Amino acid sequence: MMFSRKLLWVTLALLFTVVVLAACGTDEEPQEEQQDPQEEDQEDQEQAEGTEDDAGVVNIYTSRHYDVDDDIYNDFTEETGIEVNIINGSADELIERMNREGDASEADLFFTADAGRLHRAKEQDLLQAIESDIIEENVPENLRDVDSEWVGLTKRARIIAYHQDRVDPEELSTYEALTEAEWEDRVLIRSSENIYNQSLLASFIELNGREEAKDWAQGIVDNLARTPQGGDRDQAKAIAAGEGDVAIMNTYYLGGMLNSADEEEVKVAEELGVFFPNQETTGTHVNISGIGLAKNSPNPDNAIQLIEYLTDIDVQETFAGANYEYPVNPDVEPADVLQEWGEFEEQDLNLSILGENNGEAVRIFNEVGWQ
Ligand code: FE2
Repeated sequence: MMFSRKLLWVTLALLFTVVVLAACGTDEEPQEEQQDPQEEDQEDQEQAEGTEDDAGVVNIYTSRHYDVDDDIYNDFTEETGIEVNIINGSADELIERMNREGDASEADLFFTADAGRLHRAKEQDLLQAIESDIIEENVPENLRDVDSEWVGLTKRARIIAYHQDRVDPEELSTYEALTEAEWEDRVLIRSSENIYNQSLLASFIELNGREEAKDWAQGIVDNLARTPQGGDRDQAKAIAAGEGDVAIMNTYYLGGMLNSADEEEVKVAEELGVFFPNQETTGTHVNISGIGLAKNSPNPDNAIQLIEYLTDIDVQETFAGANYEYPVNPDVEPADVLQEWGEFEEQDLNLSILGENNGEAVRIFNEVGWQ
């Protein structure tokens, strides 16, 4: 009798272990994976160093995922002892999750693309001010939130890509010029539902006023080669397929296609040229992927230390290069492919304005019927 009860306990213990291991092994549900990162970390830490002296953790809620990031986080852990826990999701999912978790949220950092999206988190009172002289030194002021609630970590430009046989770059000048009659039926750009276009128009509202911004949106709609569809890469592919001749798109997609494992993508990208618009006027539109400090961050010091690390001169090149983006730290050279495209003048704006003008931009898109 005693024997079989013992056996039952052993069996139960084994079952429990299997269930726990299975739960740890899956990465399909990152939301459930890291219920208590702090506890997990403590265990790892103690196992690794045989000590209870714990440098702690930092939990990043991120919509970004590149293999290089993991290497960089591992280096950070090696240098500081601070364990980095990644919780993946789309920006909107993560914002929703932070709202739901409230005071109990384990989120220290919120990392996503586009100042417009970071502003969304700020507006919902999910972020707090980041205070760090190092970050202020590493990142230009216009790439940081006016209230320091988020910081740009990598930078991208929204440029005009053109077919090298069908378009002479001499014909190109500004975003505005693409609304002229000669570009009728030739312009490709994705849907206005996308934040990149909303931020682009938000920048025009700031630089040129609402009326001109609306004229521009109307003029682009009038010159579209097709109903907006797909992502930025699809606009490049549509140029190669002859559906249109120019596309407004982000630089890193072209960098990614040029270095793609997919030969078709490489072929498409090689047919295209990169043109930086508005060099004599208001500058080319730039945006960032950036990181905010969560309002209820349980580990704010570790979080700020990680941001400082990611903006550091020695880390920025790899970090930005992972996605063919420009470093935000002005002391760091961009990747070779970006250098080949040349230097350019950027819009002179604090990117906080992109979020602030987002609502107005969306209204204009609706008014002009940009799908
Ligand atoms: Fe993107």
